[in-house]
Amino acid sequence: MAPFDSAGAFLMMATLLPVKLLLVGLLAHGVVGSPGPSSNTGMVANAVLEDPEFTDVIENITVPAGRNVKLACSVKNLGSYKVAWMHFEQSAILTVHNHVITRNPRISVTHDKHDKHKTWFLHITNVQEEDKGRYMCQINTVTAKTQFGYLHVVVPPNIDDSVSSSDVIVREGANVTLRCKATGSPPPSIKWKRDDNTKIAITRNNSVVLEWEGDVLTLSRVSRYDMGAYLCIATNGVPPSVSKRIKVSVDFPPMLWIPHQLVGIPVGYNVTLECNIEAHPTSLNYWTRENDQMIHDSQKYKTETIPGNPSYKSVMRLHIGEVQHSDYGIYKCIAKNPRGETDGSIRLYSSSPPTTIPPSTTESITTTVPSTRVYESPYGLSTMSVNHFDKGIRYQSDYNQVDRSEHKSSDTSPNRDRSVDESNEINGATKSFIRWTTVFALMLHIFLPLNQ
Ligand SMILES: *[C@@H]1O[C@H](CO)[C@@H](O)[C@H](O)[C@H]1NC(C)=O
Ligand SMILES: *[C@@H]1O[C@H](CO)[C@@H](O)[C@H](O)[C@H]1NC(C)=O
Ligand SMILES: *[C@@H]1O[C@H](CO)[C@@H](O)[C@H](O)[C@H]1NC(C)=O
Ligand SMILES: *[C@@H]1O[C@H](CO)[C@@H](O)[C@H](O)[C@H]1NC(C)=O
Repeated sequence: MAPFDSAGAFLMMATLLPVKLLLVGLLAHGVVGSPGPSSNTGMVANAVLEDPEFTDVIENITVPAGRNVKLACSVKNLGSYKVAWMHFEQSAILTVHNHVITRNPRISVTHDKHDKHKTWFLHITNVQEEDKGRYMCQINTVTAKTQFGYLHVVVPPNIDDSVSSSDVIVREGANVTLRCKATGSPPPSIKWKRDDNTKIAITRNNSVVLEWEGDVLTLSRVSRYDMGAYLCIATNGVPPSVSKRIKVSVDFPPMLWIPHQLVGIPVGYNVTLECNIEAHPTSLNYWTRENDQMIHDSQKYKTETIPGNPSYKSVMRLHIGEVQHSDYGIYKCIAKNPRGETDGSIRLYSSSPPTTIPPSTTESITTTVPSTRVYESPYGLSTMSVNHFDKGIRYQSDYNQVDRSEHKSSDTSPNRDRSVDESNEINGATKSFIRWTTVFALMLHIFLPLNQ
């Protein structure tokens, strides 16, 4: 038997209730017994007795948990019949006429007294997820009349920290799995973004994406490029969406590259030596001379480390004021962090004051030899060679070999197919090309007569 399809349905449901309440409640209000106006002693007989009818559908309602809600059932010609509210999935009679049957304290019933008992309201305060479902409004005619509407209860997403990832620190090359779990109704979906809106590297299919969907984000063989904050964002269409910020730190030993390994400077000039560092955590940086003695700031020397962007990059500089003969020689830049250390050398040599270029007005002149660039990044050595074409003669300088012998790194570099941001390189390349043009112009002066 389908529930509530006859007047007997009230009784069937009512047997679940305490007997006392049932008798007092239901008998007193004429629910039990043969229903209808004739059985009600207090009823004034009407000339025409029309059957009660619903005059409106019950609206479906979607409500966030915690709110109060009111369902309306509109009838006409109710006479002495009664209106009951029921919850279909819970098989529960909630109210009959003016009486609340359920023990749920959040439920009440009202009707619109001045309107011939036309509209019956079921009130639910502080709606809970369990309140969702089909609500039936029934009139106890011989063949019960029933209509229903749905109450949908939605719950905004909530990220469950106990089963979601928190900040992680890993070594470069390791795999990282970030998890985010959220509750809510409907079930929220999770997407991942980087806090700075850069792309996420998905090694699995060799692509980069701005967003990744799913509870789990796997970063395989992480590199320093993957370092930063990730946001997992949970949404289910119910505001507000929530997010959790998870920081991924990628540790690796310091690495450096030197834009100018050979620096010629005339006596009396100021000069600045420069090493570019990448390290995480941030390295301790210092300069030494041949005797391995650390160079301290003084009237003559000024050292500085300029933080870069991203934060694992920095530039260390050594300013030497008014170079003397004793200043020529090898300088070493050294970077150490808990993951390792590395150093690089720069040779400062004596050059004659420039003739082709008038002395610069800036504090330091970085002259001559050439931006050999070995970038000891995790992406392999990248070397720049300078080509110069003149009168059909091709000069090529490749300082790769020089650099290789002068560079060290304390750790093997993880290899990963990803191109380095070339913008700095190009900038440097242009500068060094200009310098090279000068050098080659001089060389051609010397060598051209031989070639002819
Ligand atoms: C309420 O939703 C049900 C299905 O979920 C639908 O059949 C019914 O027509 C809806 N009622 C109203 C009044 O929109
Ligand atoms: C990292 O994941 C890759 C597959 O994506 C697997 O081949 C490799 O063995 C994993 N490395 C470690 C250290 O777990
Ligand atoms: C890699 O996976 C992402 C997410 O599933 C997808 O959007 C992208 O198109 C895939 N790329 C390739 C090259 O298959
Ligand atoms: C060289 O550096 C010193 C400070 O070390 C400064 O006082 C001086 O003006 C600089 N000279 C030139 C030519 O820039």
